[in-house]
Order: sequence, then structure tokens, then C-alpha cells
Amino acid sequence: MARHLITSALPYINGIKHLGNMVGSMLPADVYSRYLRQRGHDVLYICATDEHGTPAELAAKEQGLPVDEFCAQAHDAQKAVYDGFELAFDYFGRSSSAENRDITQHFARRLNENGFIEERAIRQVYSPADGRFLPDRYVEGTCPHCGYDKARGDQCENCTRVLDPTDLINPRSAISGSTDLEVRETKHLFLLQSKLQHEVEEWVSRHEADWPQLASSIARKWLNEGLHDRAITRDLDWGVPVPADTWPELAAEGKVFYVWFDAPIEYIGATKEWADQDPENRDWKSWWYDVDTTVRYTEFMAKDNVPFHTVMFPATELGVREPWKKVDYVKAFNWLTYYGGKFSTSQKRGVFTDQALEILPADYWRYFLIANAPESDDSSFTWEHFTATVNKDLADTLGNFVNRVLSFSKKRFGEEVPAGAAAGEAEAKLGEEIAGLLAEYETQMEALQFRKAAAALRALWSAGNSYLEEKAPWLEIKTDPEGAALTLRTAMNLIHLYSVVSEPFIPASSKAMRTAFALQDDTAAWVTRDEAKSLDSVPAGTPFTVPPVLFAKLTDEDLETYKERFGGAPE
Ligand code: MF3
Ligand code: ZN
Repeated sequence: MARHLITSALPYINGIKHLGNMVGSMLPADVYSRYLRQRGHDVLYICATDEHGTPAELAAKEQGLPVDEFCAQAHDAQKAVYDGFELAFDYFGRSSSAENRDITQHFARRLNENGFIEERAIRQVYSPADGRFLPDRYVEGTCPHCGYDKARGDQCENCTRVLDPTDLINPRSAISGSTDLEVRETKHLFLLQSKLQHEVEEWVSRHEADWPQLASSIARKWLNEGLHDRAITRDLDWGVPVPADTWPELAAEGKVFYVWFDAPIEYIGATKEWADQDPENRDWKSWWYDVDTTVRYTEFMAKDNVPFHTVMFPATELGVREPWKKVDYVKAFNWLTYYGGKFSTSQKRGVFTDQALEILPADYWRYFLIANAPESDDSSFTWEHFTATVNKDLADTLGNFVNRVLSFSKKRFGEEVPAGAAAGEAEAKLGEEIAGLLAEYETQMEALQFRKAAAALRALWSAGNSYLEEKAPWLEIKTDPEGAALTLRTAMNLIHLYSVVSEPFIPASSKAMRTAFALQDDTAAWVTRDEAKSLDSVPAGTPFTVPPVLFAKLTDEDLETYKERFGGAPE
């Protein structure tokens, strides 16, 4: 048994996320956490809303709410959607918490004591039309590296390079569009990342061999460009205040830390929020501070987040000169596109997570998204692919198997698992096959290869169908009722096995499958190789019920309705 600390990139507070955000961070983290819990590991899965920064201020203004109220409401709205998706966080916190404020200020003081923070007067973009300094991401323009014309002043979304607003060609205000921008002088704190370059390089080189190529290549690219000192404060009303004991002047001016400084620290902050709810029984420091090698820390994120997690946050942690836990494995994802184009809020294209749940239960989405996760490349969401996958894998292969077996057995043998003949050659062969596929599934899950894990799960479901077709109990019953009973009992054992191993992907349906059988002390604890081989953990005589249809088939009419509502292929 190991201890697994798991975090997914903190969703930004300003709005409900789309399916692309879900598949690139929270959902795979949940699947992995559930799997590890079932295997008996000690798992802590932490996430939170990322609440500071200008976009939060602007979204609040748009809704006519004070920013703290806006964030409280928006946090609850996101949490409700994640509950709907059955994301089993151990804690879903808020980066605006007192815990995060304290730890962020502590990190800043320590970095300062260690000579990694310097106060500098800088010239910053000021927009007279907007009457304010423009934070980096509110200056837009053309990327000097790749020519993308909607690059933001903090980062180019297209080539993932980190930018300064003054690097942009043809800069404009993202708030008003004004190109009348001036540069004024103001004082800010700088994190001297250049001084940490060698240490970070050394740290990355000790870890990158274990990371997926997407993560290590982005980290390398960033390091090769050289770490630059970065301003870590902003002129905003909303954020973690610069501590007055250390920087009285800046504190008096109302400076706050930059959202990207306090957001990753909230992984720790949220863990403390979790512990503060039950301090007797929860020890947040045992996950983060001076921990032994039994804690393995895995982070989930989309590729635009990789530089911050592989380089910048580790640099911060190293500079603090205290033994804070650093990431062991960085699981990074490419983009999920909508018919090959971007998900676009403004053009009403794509599917938001709340809308997805209005249409269909979470399991349909969870399975489809993970089975098609953008792991080695971008992947495209289309309604055609979605409905075909639901119909084939979920409705036909899994759902139909479950319903057919249980209904037929009930009709012929009543509401208890029938005994029938002793297992024969076909059952032994099936057991071998199932044990082999289960091993493959475990291997892929442990390697965090989600598409391959989904393929192995699908193969497990298919194996049951092949067995059933081969034995054909609906024919067997006419000549050999004992044999038919054996077939059904074996198939019911498969259903129970499916309920356990499908849990990480489709928790609600798994529960419906598992609770079809009135077994005592039944849990979703993992299946052993021997149980997979012998397929007899649901003994004859166990009462069962036939659950309602697990997955409804989607019709051509459904498909048309979805396309109409959400838009099809972009022109
Ligand atoms: N909110 C950021 C985004 O949406 C992710 C923050 S991850 C954290 O891109 F580590 F900084 F918290
Ligand atoms: Zn670019």
C-alpha cells in the first residue's frame, strides 16, 4: 500500500468549464484516484477553484456583484457540476481561503529571506481608456514566436511560450480593445527565477525520465529559453495581500500576489482546508512537508499548464528552502477540440459541463471522454462519434449484456443465481481470458494510459458477450438446463466483476450492477487474479434483481437535436 497525493489543475472561477477542461484535468484524476482507492491505497485527491486575478474581478463586475460574493456563488455552481460528474474529491477548496493566504505569505517571506525576491520599479502597461494598469493577460496581440494573433501578454496559447506584454506585436487592451496604451512606472516584487535556473534544471533532469514526453518536452523548452525573473505582484483589489510585516510600503499601496503565484500553493492550502475541517483525524503536513518516499504525488493538467507545474512552481518550492513535497509524475493532456476547432464560448460552439449533464447522465460522458482522452495528440469531439460510442460500447456491449443475462435468468430460474453444472472447459478458457485482460487493464491504469485502459475495459466487456454468444443459453435451456444455468451463473459473475472494474469510469452504473446482487459485505474492492479466473464470487443462491436499463440507446433524432443545439462542424 502506498500513499497517493493527487491534484488536478485548479479550474478558474470565472465560469462553468467545458468538456475539454474536464477531460484534461479533473476527470482523469478522478478515474485514477478511484482506481487506486479500490486497490487499497491511501489516496488524497485535492482540487479547488482558482479565484484570484483580473478575470474574476471582471466577471464579478459584469454580474454586478462584489467579487467575494461572485466567487462564493461561482464556486458553489462549479462544485454542483462536479458532484453531478461524481468527481470524488477528498476536498474541493478555494484559493481565496485563509489557509492559502497564510501559506502563500509564508512562501513569499521565506523566498525573500533566502534572497529570491527583489523589489523593482517597473514600467507597466496602463490603459487611459480603461483607467487602469492592464494585467499581462489583458494585453493581447500577435505572438512574436509563432504569429498567433490572439496571444495574451502572459502566454501564447498557440505555442505555449511564456510572454511579457511588451513582447507582443500590435498590443491592444483586451478589456476595451483600445490600442492607446501607455507605459507607467510602479513598484512590484520579483521572483528571481534566474537564480534558481540550475537547481530547477537539476531537479527536472532527475525526474523527467519518468514523465510523459509531453510534460518533459515542454519543461525542457522552457528551461532552454532560460528562466526569467518574474513580477509576482499586481495592482488589484482581489488577491492574497503582500504581507505588511515584510513589505509595508507595497502592502499600503494594496498590492496583491499574482494569481499564478498563489494558485499552485493552493494545492497545499486546500489540503490544509481539508484538515482544518477535522483536525483531530487529518494531518495535512504528512502529505506535503518533509514527507517520506511513500507519498507519490501525481498532477493532472492540460498542456498550457505544464510550464507552471514543471518549472515555475518547483522553482518556488525549491527557493523556499523547506522540504515541501514536489511533484513525482506530471500527467499532461493535449486539447479536446470540437469538430477539429476550438471550443468557443463566444461563438456558442462546444459543450459545457452543466449542459452535458442536462442531456445525459455523467457515466455516458465519463466513459466517452476518457476513452477518447487527448493523450498522445489532440482529439476531436463530434456528436456522431459520441452517439456511436455510447450505443456500441455502453448500450450494446455492456448494458445489453447485463440486462439480457439477468432478465433471462429471472424468467427461467427465478430471482436467485442458479447453480447448474460445474464449470467446464469454456468457463476455464473464459477465466484465463478475463484474468489476462484484467492484468492489461491494471498495467495501463498504473501507467496512466487512459485510452489503453478504456480499451482493456471494453475488451473485458466484449469477452462476456463472446462467451454468451458461444454458449447461447437461450438454446442450451432446451436441451441442457443445467448447462444453461452454469452459463448464466458465470455471466452473472462477470457482471459483478464488471461492476468492480468499471467503477473508475462509470461509478453510478457500476453501483447499479453491483447492487443487483444481494451480497453481504459487498464492496467495490478490487478483484484478485484468482477471482477473475474462477468467476465464482457470486455464489449460487444469491438473490438478485434486474436493474433498469443501464444505458439508453441514442437515436438519429437525438443526434440531430444535439447538433442543432450545440452547433456542428465549424465553417
Ligand atoms: N486556473 C488555471 C487554469 O485554468 C490553472 C491553475 S493550476 C494551479 O489554467 F496549479 F495553478 F493551481
Ligand atoms: Zn506563439
